[in-house]
Amino acid sequence: MAGRDVFRFETFGNEGFWTDAARLPKGMVDAKFTPKQALKAGLQVDIEAINDALRKKMEAELRTDMSPQNAPMLNDPKTTVALINANAVVGMVPKDSNGDGKLDITNGDKVGVACTICHTITDKSVFDMPNGGSIGRRVDGPAALTLNVGKLLAMAANSRAFYPNLQQSFLGISLGRAPSGLGPDSTEAEVDAYLSNPAYYPVGTFDETQDGHGNSVKNTPLFRQDLAAPYGSAGEFKLLDDISNASYTTNLDPTTLVTAEGRELLQIKAGPAGQQMADEYARILKDTGVTGYPFVKAKLTGKAGDPANPVGRRVDNQKLLDMNAYLDSLPAPAGAKVNAEMAARGRELFRASCTECHNVDQTKFVPPMLVEMKAVWPAYIPIPVGLRGDSRLSTVVNSPGIFDDKMIVVDASDRGEKRGVALPLLLDLARTNIFLHDASVGSLDNLLDQSRGATAPHPFYLTDIGQRADMATFLRSLDTDN
Ligand code: HEC
Ligand code: HEC
Repeated sequence: MAGRDVFRFETFGNEGFWTDAARLPKGMVDAKFTPKQALKAGLQVDIEAINDALRKKMEAELRTDMSPQNAPMLNDPKTTVALINANAVVGMVPKDSNGDGKLDITNGDKVGVACTICHTITDKSVFDMPNGGSIGRRVDGPAALTLNVGKLLAMAANSRAFYPNLQQSFLGISLGRAPSGLGPDSTEAEVDAYLSNPAYYPVGTFDETQDGHGNSVKNTPLFRQDLAAPYGSAGEFKLLDDISNASYTTNLDPTTLVTAEGRELLQIKAGPAGQQMADEYARILKDTGVTGYPFVKAKLTGKAGDPANPVGRRVDNQKLLDMNAYLDSLPAPAGAKVNAEMAARGRELFRASCTECHNVDQTKFVPPMLVEMKAVWPAYIPIPVGLRGDSRLSTVVNSPGIFDDKMIVVDASDRGEKRGVALPLLLDLARTNIFLHDASVGSLDNLLDQSRGATAPHPFYLTDIGQRADMATFLRSLDTDN
């Protein structure tokens, strides 16, 4: 299926960014990144991409204690290179850049990044690393919730190339999880320390807003996207192909932000602060010897700032539409097999206290309304912190605490909607280990427990411990099979 191959392997040239600007493959080789470490970092390995000889050896080593003595290949950085060359590390796509018909990333070939690095897991049929990645057949769609994106970005030899998505300081103010922000003169080591600290950049999250705030958000499912609109936790995209295009043209190659059209976007969204960031980023690219950008192959089109082409660029539209069809058709995982009586009681509780916002029936569209910040977070006190270059957008505001940090600059106001939080698919919850878009809650029981406090995000509690167990059981059982 064409859409499947777009999702799995299309990079639209972003290997130029990942290899020549951020220099991730070089960083991996320099760090002597072993397959065991890759699994610990949450990467997934596609067993079907590996030849029989390598597969047999790996399977034998996986049955050991995986020590360097008993599992030499799994502790050998050369095996990581071999796996990437074989296109077996999900989402890290090797490209025959030197045109010699062979794939070797230590001999001039580049590595790009595909959507699957964050939005695919495996069936774990060969191996499952606790709290990490796995080896097996690809399962497209479920969020890679144990992927340590921050650690991988830190491994890049030039992590400063991710500047727009890092926590920065503007006029002495810095918003995010870290006590202070990075600047244009921050060293590679300082950027790496920020990215690899899970207190600042939690496992299972990605900072996908080019706003200079440290607001890494929880990864989301990409199956059954026909039910999931609007897209993004701020509901900032109405159309699936628009968010996919934005991912290709900004997150997977942020150098588009220092083109004329990228600067226009930053001006619209954040006026002078946006221009400052573009200037600082251009300086970093110059200082670190990055040339020939932007790398992404996309058509100049439309007006910058429009959700259809935020940086005035759109990748091949047919491929985006093919991928829509694939992401719409991917099935949701089966719900957990649970105690039917508990689930039935949980369902009644859910009907009584949760359906003001959520559907009981997950085969229906997620309600498309955005929930006002104050309704989902009573502690929300918006304080103006910045200017827009386009007065039709919402005011740039921040509330003390991290729950609204993704929405300081990015919200649905550029498509004429209010600022608020989109409703998630309540699916794959048995496997989910982090909850709410800011990844602030670690279990369903905790989500429903009033000890989180009356003004905490999503304060919809059940005081009785038995009721919480019933509700969690119901939620874990949800799927689209009814
Ligand atoms: C480095 C990790 C990463 C990569 C790579 C990535 N995404 Fe995502 N994606 C995320 C995170 C995190 C979110 C949640 C964003 C939010 O909360 O607004 C997300 C959200 C989404 C959503 C919104 C889903 C919903 O129901 O609201 C879509 C659609 C999506 N991504 C598509 C893509 C596509 C298509 C690609 C490839 C072009 C891609 N992503 C690449 C991490 C990633
Ligand atoms: C006022 C509207 C509202 C009510 C009432 C409500 N929710 Fe939610 N719920 C939301 C919103 C909005 C989100 C997304 C929050 C986010 O991502 O930060 C959410 C997120 C969730 C999630 C997290 C999903 C994930 O993958 O992170 C679960 C589970 C959930 N709600 C269950 C419930 C239950 C159970 C109840 C009733 C006890 C309930 N909700 C009541 C609006 C509501």
